[in-house]
Amino acid sequence: MNFLLEADSSDPLYRRVRRAIEQAVARGQYRTTPLPSSRALAAELGVSRTTVNLAYQELITEGFIVSEPRVGYRVNADLLSRLDELGAPDPARVAGDGTVDWTAHLRERSTPGLPEVSKDYDWQRYPYPFIYGQVQASAFPVAAWNRALRTAMQQPHITYSLRDAGSADDPLLVDEICTSILPARGVRAEPEQVLVTAGAQHGLFLASQALLRRDELVAVENPGYPDASHIFARAGAKICPVDVDGSGLRVSDVPDDARIVFVTPSHQFPTNVSLGVARRAQLLDHVHANDTFVLEDDFDSELRYVGQPGPALRASGSERVIYIGSFSKFLAPGLRIGFVVAEAPLITQMRRDRRYSLRHLPGQVQRALALMIGSGDYHRTLRRHRSTLREKWHLMGQGVRSIRDKAFEPPTGGTSMWVPLPEGLDSDDVVRRAARRGLLIETGSTCFYDDRPDRHSYLRLGFAAIPLNRIEPGLHVLERVIRDSRPV
Ligand SMILES: Cc1ncc(COP(=O)(O)O)c(C=O)c1O
Repeated sequence: MNFLLEADSSDPLYRRVRRAIEQAVARGQYRTTPLPSSRALAAELGVSRTTVNLAYQELITEGFIVSEPRVGYRVNADLLSRLDELGAPDPARVAGDGTVDWTAHLRERSTPGLPEVSKDYDWQRYPYPFIYGQVQASAFPVAAWNRALRTAMQQPHITYSLRDAGSADDPLLVDEICTSILPARGVRAEPEQVLVTAGAQHGLFLASQALLRRDELVAVENPGYPDASHIFARAGAKICPVDVDGSGLRVSDVPDDARIVFVTPSHQFPTNVSLGVARRAQLLDHVHANDTFVLEDDFDSELRYVGQPGPALRASGSERVIYIGSFSKFLAPGLRIGFVVAEAPLITQMRRDRRYSLRHLPGQVQRALALMIGSGDYHRTLRRHRSTLREKWHLMGQGVRSIRDKAFEPPTGGTSMWVPLPEGLDSDDVVRRAARRGLLIETGSTCFYDDRPDRHSYLRLGFAAIPLNRIEPGLHVLERVIRDSRPV
């Protein structure tokens, strides 16, 4: 085998093909003989000719290979010998010469047995992207955001946009979070109780680093948000999955020695059920009685389409609730902005940890967001976003009821639906078949921590990214996929 494709990479396939070509050349191959034709290489690697051609085209553009009539592709020998003369590194060797045993050097961070969500980041190529966690670019308030970015570069804001703030956050953004964002969740906070983070995920990371000691237990929802468990496990904790039912986490099953109980009380990830009132009180009693903490991930609370969102757990005023917020679902995940609300000693510790990793979020982005909230643009956008999502939610609910189950109860909020499959079908298989028909859906199996019988019985259909007019036709395709799938 002259060419080896890296198996464990999230890069596009053509990039991996390109690297396989570069590595073959770095091993001394094809310096004098032509490279294989795109057909031969495609057959060897088991990829399409288009993918190989893309890789070859990129290498031609960069002058690494040349295309010669009647010969095909050759490595650019001139380039290699000129670089040799100059003593410059061989471009084919940029990936290293293979002499370092990296496994012996890298600190081990294993998270054995934890489910892992694999996302298709190339989701725009699907006609029906029912993907979760992404947004429609056309829904983003581009004009308002650009206006805010521009203003952030004018006096007096520019100082805050450009300064090295050490471990501090933008005071204007913290003030807006305290006065314009948290009140809707019933949460009161002083500026010293708020830390700005690079999204909710970063907040979970910093809280885990500050609180967890090796081998301590973290109780997580099952099914639940796998990325959070990876964060806890990488901090050295042991994961204890606790089942979720129609009222959310079964608090009575949480072990007393779980130092953190991780919950998504507004819309449980992935089922979207809300944590019931009695369970909320029970959970607070539990952590008070055991001197432990609740990590409340309130990532999409304001996206509720029926009634008003209930208050956050942190609204109880308990010091034991660490509140994690995010702007990913209301604006866009690519902005990477979230925040944590907790008691000052914990925030101070997390601030120090953040200082020695990324210091603080980019000043201009913080200031622009603060200005957008202050001008009213943020809340106008949120209202518009919520009303578009409500329309999508309505269509989704109707569609799922008609194609799957007349008794299907759509959740009251969130950006996805947790859809049970007919008995005997395997969600992973349905997802694969759906992808072949242009439908991007997610299997529910990666949200479970154990091999229980219903692990492969759910699909997750996200509706924030898919255009409104693709929902109905997409669900019809799904109906056919389900009809054509055979019970396992
Ligand atoms: C339950 C839950 N928590 C946290 C996050 C991460 O949010 P952020 O993009 O703010 O890091 C997500 C993202 O999908 C999520 O679903």
